[in-house]
Amino acid sequence: MKKTLVVTYTPRIDSNTKKLVDYFLDYNQDNTNIKILDLTETTPDLLLQENLNLFLKRNYGGIALEDEEVRILEKNDFMLQQVLDADYVVLAYPMYNFSLPATVKAWIDGITQAGKTFKLTETGYKGLCENKKALVLMTTGSDFSVEPVKSMNYATPLISQQFDFIGIPTEHITAFGLQQYPEKVFSILEDSKQEIKSLSDIWYS
Ligand SMILES: Cc1cc2nc3c(=O)[nH]c(=O)nc-3n(C[C@H](O)[C@H](O)[C@H](O)COP(=O)(O)O)c2cc1C
Repeated sequence: MKKTLVVTYTPRIDSNTKKLVDYFLDYNQDNTNIKILDLTETTPDLLLQENLNLFLKRNYGGIALEDEEVRILEKNDFMLQQVLDADYVVLAYPMYNFSLPATVKAWIDGITQAGKTFKLTETGYKGLCENKKALVLMTTGSDFSVEPVKSMNYATPLISQQFDFIGIPTEHITAFGLQQYPEKVFSILEDSKQEIKSLSDIWYS
């Protein structure tokens, strides 16, 4: 059975993003082997002075680390390994300030490791993840499906680029406008659930 890693950041009580995640989990419980990473409980380490320099020393300098140093990188390495072990990655979050929530960006910073998920080449870069697929589930308050607001959605191009960088193509299911259209919340979420169902049938058939 294919393995799916579901990475969630849904801190709000009664989160609409969580409703979509729950639908995905419920629909696919017998279709795939699922592991869940809840970023609100297991929060990636921000890259700060100590871990960033160890990371550069190891991943770019090729220098082996002492056990104690390896421990400092342990949490982000664990998250990287989860991605390497998965066939499918589902990443779910609400848009925050036109982009990814900082916690989700920290997860990206943790799994984007030279020599592990990408390598730099003379012509640019090469993603090292092969035969994986990702689904990005996002919800937003405003309706970013139409201009002029559409161009202000920095979250979707950013996360597409990040996954592309490590070699993973993305599908996107986005529930736009949950605050802009309060009377339509139910139908917007139902539409997203239908999209989740259709994609799941393709992925796990
Ligand atoms: C800190 C914060 C920042 C937000 N920034 C945006 C934003 O830039 N654009 C937008 O459309 N909605 C924004 N929202 C609204 C959420 O993206 C939207 O309500 C989303 O559906 C919430 O998902 P949830 O129900 O899973 O918490 C923001 C919400 C919060 C709490």
